[in-house]
Amino acid sequence: MISQSALIRVMTEAALKAAKDLRRDYGELDKLQVSKKGTADFVTSADMRANKTIQYELSKGRPRFGYMTEEGEEIIGQDKDHRWIVDPLDGTTNFIHAIPHFCISIALERYGEIVAGVIYDPLRDEMFWGEKGCGAYLNKNRIRVAGRRKLDEAVLATGIPHLGRKGHETFLEAMGHILPNVAGVRRFGSAALDLAYVAAGRFDTYWEMGLHAWDIAAGALIVQEAGGLVTDMNDKKDFMQTGSIVAANDMLHTPLIRLLKKVGKEKV
Ligand code: IPD
Repeated sequence: MISQSALIRVMTEAALKAAKDLRRDYGELDKLQVSKKGTADFVTSADMRANKTIQYELSKGRPRFGYMTEEGEEIIGQDKDHRWIVDPLDGTTNFIHAIPHFCISIALERYGEIVAGVIYDPLRDEMFWGEKGCGAYLNKNRIRVAGRRKLDEAVLATGIPHLGRKGHETFLEAMGHILPNVAGVRRFGSAALDLAYVAAGRFDTYWEMGLHAWDIAAGALIVQEAGGLVTDMNDKKDFMQTGSIVAANDMLHTPLIRLLKKVGKEKV
């Protein structure tokens, strides 16, 4: 029987409470006030409500920690060594379009390192979670990255830069190198769930650019705890700063990085 630490319980409880808000709002989409926040980047009242719930629940459990979220100013905690990194609704575009694929992502950073992560899919009731040194789980079951050894057997998940995002040419060039070498490509629209699916062995690999810390903090830790490798597309560790991320098992990571390193150096 798997037992969760007190820390993970605080995080999963916060996600479960916020999920109630999101499920209700998803069911009443037509009544939501949708406002534009920059080009093709939407924020909904549901997003804000979920953020408020998560912040309240986390601060009840750990009142002194800092709080960084997609939905507002960072709160510097009294305890400067601990900071929550939260995306209350990852997959906002899916949510707005009533596409049933979005999640809540909560990570804890301690001394600048992510030590715990929770990703919750409210519609499928799937809780992905992991704590540094303790493994990765989906609900009560241990998860591991897929064991496929060759890119030509692998499904790659990615995110496509769209209106208002940078990197269109880089993306197209990279895909020119990747497409002839993989078994399939998926773009589901939630970076956090893409990483959770890599951890669970559903996707073999994941690559995306232009992300924020709240999109990837929890997922990267869960992939690592599931036995996967996570770097940026230059094979460096600072994916949280650069916002480019490559996640895979150790056999697929190297060939994928090799393909990505061709970007800007060869004609497609
Ligand atoms: C987005 C999703 C999407 C990714 C975008 C992110 P949001 O996050 O994770 O999959 O491609 O780059 O911004 O805006 O839905 O929280």
